[in-house]
This record gives sequence, structure tokens and C-alpha cells, in this order.
Amino acid sequence: MKKIVISTGAGMSAESGIKTFRDNDGLWENYNVQDVASAEGYARNPKLIHDFYNARRTELVNAKPNAGHLALAELEKDFDVQIITQNIDNLHERAGSTKVLHLHGELMKVRSTTHEERVYTLPCDQLSDKGLTTSLETRDPYGDPVRPHIVFFNEPVPNIEKAIQLTMQADIFVVIGTSLVVYPAASLLQYVKRGTPIYYIDPRPANVPDWVTVIDKPAGQGVNELISLLRKQS
Ligand code: APR
Repeated sequence: MKKIVISTGAGMSAESGIKTFRDNDGLWENYNVQDVASAEGYARNPKLIHDFYNARRTELVNAKPNAGHLALAELEKDFDVQIITQNIDNLHERAGSTKVLHLHGELMKVRSTTHEERVYTLPCDQLSDKGLTTSLETRDPYGDPVRPHIVFFNEPVPNIEKAIQLTMQADIFVVIGTSLVVYPAASLLQYVKRGTPIYYIDPRPANVPDWVTVIDKPAGQGVNELISLLRKQS
């Protein structure tokens, strides 16, 4: 089976009602990114961070995978599909995709502030708070506080090496719904083997080299267009 590696961003989940970051009325228009998504912001005001991601989590549980997510899961019938996502939502997994690598963390998870390998999926019986929200008072089974399992700006991106390895193995590489401004995620394009077909699905695409095939459509429509194109070629 041919290996398709798919790099997705916030635009992938826009049709599920989850705001992107930098579009009109995007999240970063309503929140100061340094306050709610940076290591310094977390150090300065961890309560704000818990509240911000609690609200994101409540939004996520009320959202559903969209046609784009579902089509990518369906694609596993004909291709070896590996998804590398900047998104912290779990909509790819809920759509049925079996290989999903998160670069920027996962919203449904928290981890110990003292032992980062101690990661808990919410809701979690082992935590002092049994629901979907956490606070400064939340404790793990070792009595330690927890924080969202999110990669904040100015923090390392632990999964980037694995993402680069997967990208170098791609027979086909696809980018969906990202403004390509955040690194190292945006650098993956540079690791695609020469001559590998590359597609970019985004209604307002960023500038990309001319060897990339741009499908300037929303994810739902764009993914289905790409799938019919790939089926015609195979
Ligand atoms: N379908 C596909 N793409 C869409 C859609 C849609 N329905 N709606 C918007 N887009 C596109 C926009 O045109 C834009 O190019 O999605 C992209 C969203 O860009 P950003 O908001 O910058 O999101 P992203 O690139 O994922 O941000 C990267 O930045 O804030 C951090 O950690 C956060 O993972 C995030 C990272």
C-alpha cells in the first residue's frame, strides 16, 4: 500500500465549529497568545491556562468530526495513512483514523507538573477531579499538580523527529488547513523526498513552491476532490 503522510492544522477542524487561530475572528484575536499558549504565560498565570483549556475542552466534546476527517479515515482502505497534526483536538481519532501523531499536544490529556511522563486522559478516576476540567488544586495519584498536556510556545516539540522520519517515507504528502507560519511543523515540507507529489488543501493558502498542487477549497470538499484525483491515478 502506498504511504500517504498528511499534515493538518486548525483549518481541518474549522468545519467542526472549532475556531482557527489566525483567521478573522480566530482565537488569537480574542486571547493574548502569550497569556494562554506560552511557557511564560503558564508561569505567570497558571489559573488562566487551566480556565482557557477547560473552555476549549468543553467546546471539543460538543464538536463532531467533519466530512474531511471522515474521508481521511476512509482513505485507510486504499492507502497506508499517517496523520501528523498540529491540532490538539481528537477529531481525527474520533473519525476513525488509526495513525495520528500530535505535534502540539492533546487537549483531552493533562500531565504531572513534576513528572512529564505521567500523562492522564480526561475524564480520569485517578485524579482528584474526575471530570473534564482541572484547576490549580487538581492532584494526580502522587499528590502532584497537573497542567494541560499541550506544547506551549517556547517549549520543545518532542514528536518532531518522529514526524520528520514519517515525512521522509511519504509516497504522497498532503498539507491541510494550516497557515504554515508555526515552526517546526511548517518545516516538514522540506523533508519530503524529491519528486514526491505534494498537495495543499486550504481555501486561503499560504505561498508555497510551484511544485505543490494547491486545492484552494475547504477541507471537507478539498479532501474529497483529492481522493477522487488519487483514485483516478491508481
Ligand atoms: N478548511 C481548510 N482550511 C481552512 C478552513 C477550512 N474550512 N478554514 C480556514 N482554513 C485555513 C486558513 O486559510 C488558514 O490557512 O486554516 C488555516 C488556519 O491557520 P492558523 O489559524 O494559523 O492555524 P495553524 O496553521 O494550525 O496554527 C499553527 O499555531 O497557534 C498555534 O499551536 C497553535 O497549532 C497551532 C499553530
